[in-house]
Amino acid sequence: MADVKKIAVIAGDGIGPEVIAEAEKVLKKTEEIFGYRFETEHGLFGGIAIDETGTPLPQNTLELCKKADAVLLGAVGGPKWDNNPKELRPETGLLGIRKELGLFSNIRPAVIFDCLKDASTLKPEVLEGTDLIVVRELTGGIYFGEKFRREGAHGEEAVDTCVYNVQEIERIARQAFEIARTRSKRLASVDKANVLETSRLWRETVIRISADYPDVELEHILVDNCAMQLLRRPSSFDVIVTENMFGDILSDEAAMLTGSIGMLSSASLGEGAFGLYEPVHGSAPDIAGQGISNPIATVLSVALMFRLTFGYHDAAEAIERAVKEVLDAGHRTGDIAVDKSKAIGTTAMGDLIVNAIRK
Ligand code: NAI
Ligand code: MG
Repeated sequence: MADVKKIAVIAGDGIGPEVIAEAEKVLKKTEEIFGYRFETEHGLFGGIAIDETGTPLPQNTLELCKKADAVLLGAVGGPKWDNNPKELRPETGLLGIRKELGLFSNIRPAVIFDCLKDASTLKPEVLEGTDLIVVRELTGGIYFGEKFRREGAHGEEAVDTCVYNVQEIERIARQAFEIARTRSKRLASVDKANVLETSRLWRETVIRISADYPDVELEHILVDNCAMQLLRRPSSFDVIVTENMFGDILSDEAAMLTGSIGMLSSASLGEGAFGLYEPVHGSAPDIAGQGISNPIATVLSVALMFRLTFGYHDAAEAIERAVKEVLDAGHRTGDIAVDKSKAIGTTAMGDLIVNAIRK
């Protein structure tokens, strides 16, 4: 009997609860088929938590997450809370939870489903076979460095500073090497080492860590070149690791290779196996409550959780195969449908995927 994995489930706002409900069906089906065992407990978070408790990240939700093995998050936010003061905004909760849980990397897979290739703005033959992961450092670099204004020789100046220490680079590099090890064993480290001192330290450190991973093939690529190669030869990448700002830009670029935001999963990781898993999309207030949202991003986030936190590769593969099978059979939610009149709803899509999961 497998040990029981504790999953904190935070549905949040808008379409969050709809897509989370489908992901929970997938969890249940995986238990039945593979014999894994999950204990799920729900917590309030985001706008709904503001309404019910007066804060976006209630203490008991945080406790729930801290004692869990993984967190599954829907989405938070909506127009209702947009004009609230900062401490009463759902997004403040999002930053708070990442910080409190010590999550220092953001992981975003970009996978092309062959039957959806036409949905992308890139040529299908360029996209063929694309299956990559961007590992982005999340808590260091220029976004967190000292920033200030001053009076210079030519008037007002603004200064942002980019700082990385060896320990920050080491831990993200190790994580990326570990992930590459579970895949095609190729890692591209992205920097701007021809110009930036932080990038030179980045590169030296990654090279040093690579000695512990002789089975992973390491490539260094300058960020501007990487931006081009992602559009020219996306299928040649496996795992990409990079610092915060470069990762912000490259992960959005990589995401758009695939076409729809309703398909994109993500993970935020810290030390050890713990992780927070969520779709890349937001709470989609424009379609919330209509039962038409695409649950696939959240379902694929469960698969990512199985791979990165639990090491349940068989179940992860089964989920990914089920999604592919349902798409190959022509089933589409509105966001990915060419003929919108044939689009199916959230629960119908969830049911099809659940029924397609097998060993
Ligand atoms: P969004 O991702 O919620 O929506 C953008 C567009 O994509 C909308 O037209 C929406 O209908 C569509 N869409 C998104 N997910 C979909 C799905 N699963 N199926 C079908 N269509 C889908 O981004 P937006 O509109 O900028 O933000 C809405 C709210 O969500 C805001 O309050 C924002 O702050 C919040 N947000 C929360 C995030 C999170 O919880 N991590 C991330 C991004 C935004
Ligand atoms: Mg961004």
